[in-house]
Amino acid sequence: MSKPARLPGAAPRRFGGTRRRVPGLRPRVFAALLLSSAVTLAVAALALLSPLEHRLRSDGETAVFTAIAASRSDFAEIGLTRATGTPSNGELAATVALLRRRSGAQVTVLDRRLGTIYSPANQDLDVPDYYAQARRALRTGRGVHTLVGDELVAAEPMQIGENGATYAVVLVRRLQYVSSAVHVVQNAFIEAAAVGFGIALLLGLALTTTLLRRLERLREAARELERRGLDAPIHLDERRDEIGDLTRAFASMQARLRRQEEARHAFVATASHELRTPLASLDGTLELLEDDLDPRRLDLEDARERTLRAREQSRRLSSLASDLLDLSRLDAEVSLRAEPVELGELCRAVAAEFERRAAERGIQIDVRQPSQACWATCDPGAVARIVRILLDNAIGIAPSGSRVQTQSATDGSWARVTVSDDGPGVPERERERIFERFQRGSTSGGRSGFGLGLAIGRELATRMGGSLTLLDGATGAGAPGARFTLRLSAARVEEDSAP
Ligand SMILES: Nc1ncnc2c1ncn2[C@@H]1O[C@H](COP(=O)(O)OP(=O)(O)O)[C@@H](O)[C@H]1O
Ligand SMILES: [Mg+2]
Repeated sequence: MSKPARLPGAAPRRFGGTRRRVPGLRPRVFAALLLSSAVTLAVAALALLSPLEHRLRSDGETAVFTAIAASRSDFAEIGLTRATGTPSNGELAATVALLRRRSGAQVTVLDRRLGTIYSPANQDLDVPDYYAQARRALRTGRGVHTLVGDELVAAEPMQIGENGATYAVVLVRRLQYVSSAVHVVQNAFIEAAAVGFGIALLLGLALTTTLLRRLERLREAARELERRGLDAPIHLDERRDEIGDLTRAFASMQARLRRQEEARHAFVATASHELRTPLASLDGTLELLEDDLDPRRLDLEDARERTLRAREQSRRLSSLASDLLDLSRLDAEVSLRAEPVELGELCRAVAAEFERRAAERGIQIDVRQPSQACWATCDPGAVARIVRILLDNAIGIAPSGSRVQTQSATDGSWARVTVSDDGPGVPERERERIFERFQRGSTSGGRSGFGLGLAIGRELATRMGGSLTLLDGATGAGAPGARFTLRLSAARVEEDSAP
């Protein structure tokens, strides 16, 4: 045999080859929690620290500028010494003190030649060279301010005294509290980050421990199922969350599989039992037939009778085989068609198949068709099969000389076919049981059968989204009678577009 062609360089594929294992649930949960708390803190720090610094600085500056504006009139009201025309020392000191309180800044007053006419007594500031600013303020007549490091220097031209000269009032305010405030907040963030990480780790540990323990239990249950089969017990997780739901779904799947398995066992056991009896009887008949055909004691009359019996038995077997085939198809969930079918016409066609048998038994089949066509969405083959099952029972069970009736009708969103007879009906206690597989009722009328017809009929009806039920009362001819109704969803079909 030639070797299969392979792409150059392509490694041969093997089943169960080693796949790279992804990290488990626990490291992933930890990573997610840590990452999310780190990102949250980083974003919060970015969003808070820089605006906080900016805000504190601008608040400091505003305090200085507001104080200057508020003091302007106070400066203008300072009295001047008549001899020199310079501001009176006492008043100047009081006004400057007020300005200092308002602005929180050190205040110096310079004259036009930049000579100091007032300077703070306790000059504790390392005052930068502010002469250039004072000069510019005096020259331009407009306030000048600069921020050097943490120090705000504002030089303001200010008229002192009514009609007095203009002086430069220089304010120096230290804004280093801004940096310390930002620093404090930064430290707080770092502490918060440490606490946040700690909590995230603890939470992650607690969460993953319980989650993993519960998942582990579920995995163990799945393994048990593999080892011990469908009877392995599952510990139900009572909690109302996703893992609890998963465990419950798992348990209900197991229960369903177990039920199916049991049904399959029962079906195979009953089916083989049911097959064995008619086969043994057929075998016996054929053996006797062989005896009858022995040339030494040839009995043609008996042989003919036995041949008829054998044929009858083989017919029964073939009908059982076809029922079993139907059931196995239904169990394999072979899909049914869904198309518009006219039920009246279908009943008429199926009833025609039974005409001869009915006549032999002296039974009249009455096919009642409504004035309007009765359309249903269904599988025509399946519906014909159900009507056949119902007519077969009715004609076999109803007394000779009676009437069997089929009727199709639509009511609202449903279409239905009813098959009724004037036979003995079905006793109350058997009404549901007769729809089970291999269950025959006391009213089977001595006919041969395997109790599969109604089970097949109901299964088919359910699979088409409808139902097959037994209703009380029959045609009203005195006897209790039986009335089976097949209900299907109605189809809306325009008469001229009918298929
Ligand atoms: N028209 C009917 N009247 C009275 N009993 C019925 C009628 N149809 C069905 N039954 C009861 O339901 C049982 C089950 O029917 P079915 O599933 O078709 O199996 P089978 O025909 O092989 O007995 C019958 O044995 C009979 O007792
Ligand atoms: Mg039957």
